[in-house]
Amino acid sequence: MHTHHNNALRQENIGERVVLKGFVAKKRDLGNLVFIDLRDSEGITQLAFYKDNDLRSITTGIKNEYVLEAEGVVRERSSKNPDMPTGDIEVDVDRLEVLNTAKQPPLLIQNDTDALEETRLRYRYLDLRRPKLQELMKLRHRITKATRDFLSEEDFLEFETPILTKSTPEGARDYIVPSRLHKHTFYALPQSPQIFKQLLMISGFERYYQIARCFRDEDLRSDRQPEFTQIDIEMAFVDEEKVLDVSERLIKRIMKDARGIDVKTPFPRISYEDAMRLYGTDKPDLRFGMAITDLSAVFKDTAFKIFKGVLSEGGAIQAINAEGAAKEYSRKQIDALETEAKKFGAKGLAYLKYEDGALAGPPAKFLEEEELAGVAEATAAGEGDLILIVADTVKTSRRALGHLRNVLAEALGLIDADIFDFTWVVNWPLFEYDEEEGRYLALHHPFTRVRDEDKDRIEKAPGEVLAYGYDLVAQGQELGGGSMRIHEMSMQRRVFEALGIDEATQQSRFGFLLEALEYGTPPHGGIAFGLDRIVMMLGGTDNIRDVIPFPKTQSGHCLLTGAPDDVDTAQLEALALKKSNHEK
Ligand code: AMO
Ligand code: AMP
Repeated sequence: MHTHHNNALRQENIGERVVLKGFVAKKRDLGNLVFIDLRDSEGITQLAFYKDNDLRSITTGIKNEYVLEAEGVVRERSSKNPDMPTGDIEVDVDRLEVLNTAKQPPLLIQNDTDALEETRLRYRYLDLRRPKLQELMKLRHRITKATRDFLSEEDFLEFETPILTKSTPEGARDYIVPSRLHKHTFYALPQSPQIFKQLLMISGFERYYQIARCFRDEDLRSDRQPEFTQIDIEMAFVDEEKVLDVSERLIKRIMKDARGIDVKTPFPRISYEDAMRLYGTDKPDLRFGMAITDLSAVFKDTAFKIFKGVLSEGGAIQAINAEGAAKEYSRKQIDALETEAKKFGAKGLAYLKYEDGALAGPPAKFLEEEELAGVAEATAAGEGDLILIVADTVKTSRRALGHLRNVLAEALGLIDADIFDFTWVVNWPLFEYDEEEGRYLALHHPFTRVRDEDKDRIEKAPGEVLAYGYDLVAQGQELGGGSMRIHEMSMQRRVFEALGIDEATQQSRFGFLLEALEYGTPPHGGIAFGLDRIVMMLGGTDNIRDVIPFPKTQSGHCLLTGAPDDVDTAQLEALALKKSNHEK
């Protein structure tokens, strides 16, 4: 047995006999002296083998990642390493056992490895030996432990809901699994446990939680994986305030237990409408200002063709003020900002710089003195400020400026990774009109309850009704989302209808839920947090693959196992499936 882990020994252990185990992180052979850095999940301790040591013949053959057991006496180092917690000591080894050898690893096992991500994912078990990933996995554990501790203390029961199930609509495509026993029928993997947690409320469990794996076949990004984990919560006989209160206390506890950070509750709230109006997004980064200003009133009588045209079509002129950025941003850099704005649909980007006491820039010659003064006043422009203007539909100009706001804040160094700006985005609309599909879609999901005061307007003004829906955002990320749920069957049918789901489809997809709602459903609501995103935020990484032990690539591959992979013809036959001639 080992007596200590590799981050345990300090000055006060000098003279003690110890046994250590671990991987060889590094070997340095200085001729008269051999050092081996021995690494385990806790840290590194230096082993020393002096010239007359009998074990020198063994150390000759030892290479990186060999697995060792070493016994010896702790001694003071002659040259100390202040960058290592164990840097004051070393172990003078007098018994050494090679527990296993290792091939030369295809990547450097240290924090700044130069390996390609492809190599790291192919040899993920080695990548995971890197201290940074070891720390992130430990952080993940502390977060799930804090979650379980807190929710258990609050009388929540932990449940497991089915993985082989029926489609749950959360807006992505389903992963489907063919059934062998019932040919040509399919299970769907859950996009979330949404319907099951609601059914558990109907069963009379008033407080449910689950650390739930969810599966969504959607385009992947740096903050999305096809399978990811939610901290999923549901409560009965509660209102929105109660759900937000429990959620805030959970986040507070996670921050404290996992990172030792005290966060203030209650969290500020912003309405969905204000978030879109001021920041052009439903997940604003509130660590900095630079809110969007509407300049439409300033330009209502303008002669400037571009602005005039947009306003006459019901669009808007909107702007942000990048304070103090006038000097920093050359024509060329502003062109790059324009390219960014165009990615979000803007047709162009106009700019004005406040220099030598006045606003000037390319469009200035088309603008009246009063208009320039109006812009300066509305945007609170002062010496050295850069005003960026987009004229477009309200939606596009907001989206484009919302994006520029983030790009600028990053470039101007306004973003502090140590600020946790937890904020609730509340008062979500129930539906949003989807131009492409030509119909209304649920902004959260179709089980979200409409606000009481809007109950009678679902059919008349579907685009205007508000829901009891809320998202938790921080650092410009959506960390969680939830809502109060519909608990009356008739209301659920009305919402399905407004979404264009006909009665036959309602019955085949959700008949079991509609039926259950009729057996005494208590008012209920809940929320789900993206666990992976919480770990990312607290771990200071913007790559979701860093916080998942065995993640998939952006194209959905597991490079370690080779999934997804072909299957035997026999397996397909058993499922009564045949490959079509579609190209791979
Ligand atoms: P929603 O779809 O908003 O809500 O998901 C909740 C949270 O899960 C995280 N998340 C993801 N994380 C990583 N990869 C993904 N592909 C991914 N998709 C979502 C986000 C998000 O805020 N059933 C509802 C919750 C409820 O109403 O109670 C739901 O799933 O952080
Ligand atoms: P153009 O007439 O297209 O050459 O544009 C003249 C200037 O106005 C350029 O700097 C464009 O980037 C800018 N511009 C064009 N369209 C818009 C718009 N919709 N909103 C803001 N600026 C625009």
